[in-house]
Amino acid sequence: MKIGFIGAGVVAQTIARQVLPFGHRVLLSNRRGPDSLASVVKELGTGAEAGTPQQAAEQDIVVLAVTWPSVQAALFSVADWKDRILVDATNRVAGYNPLTLGDISGRTSSEIVADLAPGAKVVKAFSSVPMSWISNFSPSKPRTVLFISGDDEAKKPLNDLIEQVGFSCVDLGSLSIGGRLQQLGGPLAGIKLTFTERFVL
Ligand SMILES: NC(=O)c1ccc[n+]([C@@H]2O[C@H](COP(=O)([O-])OP(=O)(O)OC[C@H]3O[C@@H](n4cnc5c(N)ncnc54)[C@H](OP(=O)(O)O)[C@@H]3O)[C@@H](O)[C@H]2O)c1
Repeated sequence: MKIGFIGAGVVAQTIARQVLPFGHRVLLSNRRGPDSLASVVKELGTGAEAGTPQQAAEQDIVVLAVTWPSVQAALFSVADWKDRILVDATNRVAGYNPLTLGDISGRTSSEIVADLAPGAKVVKAFSSVPMSWISNFSPSKPRTVLFISGDDEAKKPLNDLIEQVGFSCVDLGSLSIGGRLQQLGGPLAGIKLTFTERFVL
């Protein structure tokens, strides 16, 4: 699978490092252009390249990994979102010190993302855990639970990817209900669940 990233910071690089050992390829993009990512893709190694947000959106899956105030500009930099699988890894943090949350007017933050990317199949994932919790890249890493939420079949390839790279994927349902459970401020945000063993009935 080829995975694009809009945003090339902590989240994009962490997920890239998780998927690359399994033969997937990644294309990272940021605001400053592909040349600014030369050292990042060199360090990520074989299978990694830099590109534009438009190119990232043209991959099999694209992960939105920008800060909340940049979400609209990042999504608007892509010409056509129709039928793209868009993984929303963002949290609606409007500012730090003090922590302020972006206004979502009673909706879920991923529904706002979906509105800004018309036609995209949006899946919320990766946002409820700090990346430090999934920065063990060894084959024997703990099987940490990652939640997904979404309204269509786009959840399937993401579920398979998450399970393949060594995490346990739990589908919480729709963007509206599951998204509310896992988004910042929801009851499952920042909850660390790790399988130590599996009980088979
Ligand atoms: N860090 C975590 O542990 C964590 C965990 C879960 C979820 N999250 C959420 O995931 C999102 C990303 O977090 P992060 O820690 O990875 O942030 P980060 O390290 O600050 O990286 C943000 C990236 O977004 C890029 N960007 C900003 N505006 C853009 C645009 N218009 N088009 C393309 N790229 C743009 C930046 O590029 P430039 O450098 O060129 O500006 C930068 O590469 C945030 O919403 C955060 O709340 C973070």
